Parts: sequence; C-alpha cells; structure tokens
Amino acid sequence: MYTMRSTSGLFVFVAFLIALTKCSRLLVVFPMEAPSHYNLGSSLAKGLAEAGHDVTIIASFKEKSITKGLKYREVYLDGFYEERKKQFKEMNLFKMTNIPMIMRLPFMNSMGNDITERTFAHPKIQKLLDDQNEKFDAVIVENFINDAMKYFAYHFKAPLISFSPVGANAWVNILVGNPAPPSYIPNAFMDYSSQMTFFERVLNNLFDVISSLNTHLIFFPGQNKILHKYFPNAPDISDLLYNNSLVLLNSHVSTTFPVPLLPNMINIGGFHVKPAKTLPKDLKDFIEGAKHGVIYFSMGSNLQSKDLPENIRNNLMNTFKSLKERVIWKFEDENLPGKPNNVLISKWLPQNDILGHPNVKLFITHGGLLSTTETIYHGVPVLTIPIFGDQKMNANQMIQHGFGQSISYEDLNEENNIRTAINEMLTNTKYKNNAKQRSKIMHDQPNKPMDTAIFWIEYVIRHNGAPHLRTAGLDLAWYQYISLDVYAFVISVSILVVLILSKLFKICCRKTKTKTDKVKKNN
Ligand SMILES: *[C@@H]1O[C@H](CO)[C@@H](O)[C@H](O)[C@H]1NC(C)=O
Repeated sequence: MYTMRSTSGLFVFVAFLIALTKCSRLLVVFPMEAPSHYNLGSSLAKGLAEAGHDVTIIASFKEKSITKGLKYREVYLDGFYEERKKQFKEMNLFKMTNIPMIMRLPFMNSMGNDITERTFAHPKIQKLLDDQNEKFDAVIVENFINDAMKYFAYHFKAPLISFSPVGANAWVNILVGNPAPPSYIPNAFMDYSSQMTFFERVLNNLFDVISSLNTHLIFFPGQNKILHKYFPNAPDISDLLYNNSLVLLNSHVSTTFPVPLLPNMINIGGFHVKPAKTLPKDLKDFIEGAKHGVIYFSMGSNLQSKDLPENIRNNLMNTFKSLKERVIWKFEDENLPGKPNNVLISKWLPQNDILGHPNVKLFITHGGLLSTTETIYHGVPVLTIPIFGDQKMNANQMIQHGFGQSISYEDLNEENNIRTAINEMLTNTKYKNNAKQRSKIMHDQPNKPMDTAIFWIEYVIRHNGAPHLRTAGLDLAWYQYISLDVYAFVISVSILVVLILSKLFKICCRKTKTKTDKVKKNN
C-alpha cells in the first residue's frame, strides 16, 4: 500500500537505523486487564523485540507463542483478567450506556486506583523492583488512569515514555503541556465530534474544568497515596507526572480529527494492524461462497453479544435472516437457537483477516478504537452500536467522515431500525467510497507507524531523555500557563489608569467650576 518511493526510502532508512542502533533494554508496562489494551502493548513490545531490542513486558495476559530468538520476557500478572471478568459479569456492560457523563469520573478513578494498587502489590512486581541487577534504558508505560506507575521509570533511572491508548486526550495533554482548546476538541467523555454546536461547546468547556478539577484534586492525590503506601521513599507524584520524554499516541489523522501536537507527541495509530493473512478454511469458504458479500458483526472483547437481551437478539436474527448477504457473528456461546442459515457464529474470530477480505462489505461494531483503526486500515464501512467509553465519540467521528452510521442501543428494540440502517449502509455507495478514501489517508505516510514508534523510542535513548523536546509551559503554574496573571495585571493597570484619569478630571472640573463661580459672584 505504501508508495514505491517511500518503500525504498524506508528500506534505506531502516537499514541505516539497524546499522546504527545498539540493543537497548526496554520495560513495557501494560497491566490493564483488557484484551484490547494488551493487544496494543504486546504489539509494541513484539515490534521492539523484532527490531533487536531486549524487551520485558508487564501484562495481565500471556503470548501463546513467541518467535524463537527474540529477547522477549513476560512478567505475567496472574489472576488479573479473571478478576476483571468477574467484575464485568456482575455489572452487565450493556447497562453502562445509560450512565450520565459526570458519574463516569468516579467510576474511572476507582477502576484506575484498583489496577494501580493490585499491580504494585503483585509479588512479581515487588521482585522485579527489588532486583538490583535489573537495568533498563527506557520505560514505556501505558497512560491509562494509572499515573503512579510512572514510578517505574524513576525507579530504574530511565527516560519515561507514556503510551496513550486513546490519542491526545486530556490525560496526556496536561503531562506535556499540550494545548487542546475545548472550543473544537471534545473531551473523550463527551461523545461529541470536533464540530460542536454552541451548547455542546458550553458543556464541553464546563466538563473540561470539572474533569481537570477531578484529576488534580481527587485522582492524582489518590494515586500519590497508593504510590507511597508501596514505595515510601518515592518522590511526590508531581515530580513524576511531568517528566515524560515522549508520548506515543494510538491515533492518526485518519482515525480522529486534526489536533495540535507538541514535538514529543508522536502519532503511531495503526501500528498494531498487520496486512490480512489467509483465513482458516471454514471462514474462507463461507466468505468466498457469499454471492452478495458478507457482514461482520462483533461487539469487541468486553461486551459479549450473548448477553444481549432476548428481544434484541431476536430482532438481529430476524433482520439477518431477511438479508441476501451472509453474516459472521462473534457470539460467545456454542449455540444460538434459531440461528438463520446465512449466519455463522464463533466465539473467537480473526477480525483483522476478516476485515481485510474484499468480500466483506460492512462491519457492525461497538466502535472501540482498535476496531475503528482496523476498519479504517482495510477501508470497510461501519455501523456502530456504541455503548461506553470513547465509543460514541468514535461513532460520531465516523459519521462525520462519511463512512459510518450509528444506531443507539435503545433503537435495537425495534427490528425496523436495524433493517433500515443495514439497508442504507449496503445500498448507498458513499459509505464504501469514503471508507476507501479514509484508508488511503491512513496508508499515505512516510514510514509505517511501527517504524515511527521504534525510531522515536531509540531517539529518546540516544538523546538521554531528549530534554530539548520539553516545553517551557511545563515550568509554569496553571494560571501562568493560561496567562491569567497577565490578564489580571493588564486589567488592574487599565482600571487604575481610568481611576486616576477620572480623579484628575474631577479635580480640574472642580477648579474651573470654583473659578467660574467666583467670577459669577463678583459680577
Ligand atoms: C526525569 O527524567 C530525567 C531524564 O530521563 C531523569 O534524569 C530524571 O531523574 C527524572 N526525574 C524524575 C523525578 O523522575
């Protein structure tokens, strides 16, 4: 997909780098116990190991097979994912679609504190940190409501690299002092797109303040407490937070809207996606035997479509039954009673390879960022059923870019809504054309995203943390950063000048008045 010119350029570039780089020891910290987060962390770790580095990854999952010869070590946090699954099961994630915006903050705070505490408390982590022989040249930490984990970089005296799984959001912008005007950059919790109405902008501004107050007054102090509970000699969290050498962003202009980025914030969105491989025989036959094409339906790894209420499940089945297309449905049970003949169900599916097959016409998804990235990579139009997190924002963005439609969870109660949405997506060619266009934007880059990530990580090591990329904005207090002190000064001086002038004016007036009065009297 990359142009010839850039491919040969890339080859020379990569050969040059390989000749130049030495093998570095890297620690990759991705404890978040969700398959999508692990997918990102392990892709990055494997990419670095394949580039010749010695990589250690802290994660709640294990690789099934690791290529021989790679220096790839796992610190596997056993029991984490089982615990998370239990919590999710009790919650029923589909109900989260109704949680009001404000309530999401305390929910995220407690989820973040929970994973931070359990990671620090894990015996394998204690052992890793106690081992005097452990040395790293850089520490890459997923920045996901776990800011105390920046301590790993401090502990190993290595440059800190943060990885943002959701692009340049409020959580990372404040760490490096990146400007993000709330007038056109929606908070990820607000479900808006970059084109907001006046009242959306009002709410977005308000929420920006509330979420920043939450971060500084509640979340960071909470993280600081956990940090000092496990590492009493650690510095205050404020010394760790703003010491990032680099921020890697799981985003790209093709997956989001254009935003300002400081020179140490690097887009690598799409780095985890690989070209589609050949499908297993049963799937390949099913897809290639579909005369009218295939629809792929998956709600991701956390939401289980087997947990959908029966009426919604029946509505979906009836709609699928009436289609001439075939449907592949990620369904987590062995059996789906009444399954139509044109539907194939499976607990696990090679999503990337399915989306990469030219006979796949439509992707019905929850709109998670990984699914969004993969569908853009392969140029497949999307019908989203967003439930929580950034899914509504991603859905709105895809609608704005003309290759997506969205249907709310409540609307699934009406069979007709589902049928109308699917028919619109399959018959109107604009969706397909716009999806192909977006895909072109993603692929038209000077380097592949993984090579970009590797380049910048090595760059930070070569330049001892690259302090020359750090903005002076980080040394200012918040009111200085937004120039409040300057405004206050200018306004005060202006008021003072006006006061003095009016006083002088009054004195002059009084003098001339008494003069004229005197003249009048004398007459
Ligand atoms: C901040 O980062 C620099 C460069 O990596 C490092 O030398 C310094 O010790 C770090 N400071 C803290 C408090 O982590």
